[in-house]
Amino acid sequence: MALSDFDLVFFGGSGDLAMRKLLPAMYARDVCDDLPATARIICVGRDDFSQEEFLRFVEKNSKPNIKETPAEATWARFLQRIVYVALNATDVKSYAPLVEVLRPDESLTRVYYLATPPHLFATICDNLAATGLATPNSRVVLEKPLGRDLASAKQINLDVGKVFAESQIYRIDHYLGKETVQNLLALRFGNILFEPLWRREYISDVQITIAEKIGVGNRLGYYDTSGALRDMLQNHLLQLLCIVAMETPSSISPDAVRDAKLQVLRSLKRFTPTTLSQNIVRGQYRSGYVDGQPVPGYRDEPDAPKQSKTETFVAMKAEIDTWRWAGVPFYLRTGKRMADRLAEIVVRFKPIPHSIFNQPTSSFQPNSLVIRLQPDEGLSMNLMAKTPGDAMRLKQAELELDFREQFKSPRMEAYERLLVDVLRGQLTLFMRGDELEAAWEWVEPILEHWEQDDSSPVPYTSGTWGPAASSALIGRDGLQWREEVLPED
Ligand code: BG6
Repeated sequence: MALSDFDLVFFGGSGDLAMRKLLPAMYARDVCDDLPATARIICVGRDDFSQEEFLRFVEKNSKPNIKETPAEATWARFLQRIVYVALNATDVKSYAPLVEVLRPDESLTRVYYLATPPHLFATICDNLAATGLATPNSRVVLEKPLGRDLASAKQINLDVGKVFAESQIYRIDHYLGKETVQNLLALRFGNILFEPLWRREYISDVQITIAEKIGVGNRLGYYDTSGALRDMLQNHLLQLLCIVAMETPSSISPDAVRDAKLQVLRSLKRFTPTTLSQNIVRGQYRSGYVDGQPVPGYRDEPDAPKQSKTETFVAMKAEIDTWRWAGVPFYLRTGKRMADRLAEIVVRFKPIPHSIFNQPTSSFQPNSLVIRLQPDEGLSMNLMAKTPGDAMRLKQAELELDFREQFKSPRMEAYERLLVDVLRGQLTLFMRGDELEAAWEWVEPILEHWEQDDSSPVPYTSGTWGPAASSALIGRDGLQWREEVLPED
């Protein structure tokens, strides 16, 4: 469905995210003829580019990030939409050119996407208000990191909330834009099969993993003050957990879904200093090999503090104190420089209570459902089935659904999907302010404990699945991470 006319403003418009993700996402929509002829993308940045210089900059830095090399005509049409405005975000006087450029027509959609460091959010919002640009029909998108603790997240909500109503604020978590995350909603609430079993009586445990092969790259300045807990767990992993664990929302409307997610966040069992050290493992990568190539350890990355205690890996056992989930462990894990790039959710069901076959109950693999987000998108269901032959022998078999195979239609990247939702005014896949605060509130005791704690993260070799302590964490409950369970022949 084509979008209605808009002025989309990217603050941080010459930055890395704009070049790598945002402009390519808008190009992808343009190629599909989804953008009205007059729709514009206004890139705002500090650099003193002329319009021509900026377009050359986009050509050099953004075009290579577009999957299929753009045809000349479509690329030229796309470039015509782009307007560059040089502006110092902290100086209200410098907003005059932006006032000039934006079309005053109230019926147009107007979006301000703040792809800037969060300490600029308040100033930008104030300056938009002072220059009359924060109109009632405009929307503001906030890019992560949305705070570094509860107090700073509250401050962001407060600052932005002074200028924009909650219904105008879109807090991005790009994991929510991933196709499989939405498919998880479809799976849970579009089928009768799973919901009756989706509870403590039938589910023994849930594993959620986001593993990356990449290291910290050129983001050390940010990452060293953040770490895996803030960078991945507080947001992406908790959002996935919410979608897996939430109660059935009354509809797909933003507040129904966000109320349900909030309830999960508020029901997460709080860690105390004792339970925290028993149930959380933090690690930091050392040198090793990834894809056969030697890679340096975290502390040997360029500019890394030699004694850095920043964690690049976290594994934890979380619990949700509700009737539905009491006693069901949720194992969460994320890390950089791991053996493989993968994001998946594994839901393991309880064993059958009794075997009628000439096989002991213990030889029956419990059913499990694996929902894959990355690298491929799909799900597999492990079932017990009879092996061919005259004997009644049962063995594990796999029911596989590959979303790419099943649905041939082109897919949208996470940012593309989320930008379209912003332009359409659909808030369901964005976090509400209270959700953000509830997530920080839950991780805060962990952050505080680590700050006061003298110990360092445990080392793990790059190209592995993390420290041995991570296997021990889940092993204590008699379980293994999925990749540790060797498939049977
Ligand atoms: C970002 C983190 O939010 O997500 C990065 O800041 C991480 O550190 C990235 O690499 C992972 O996203 P994806 O979509 O590649 O799994």
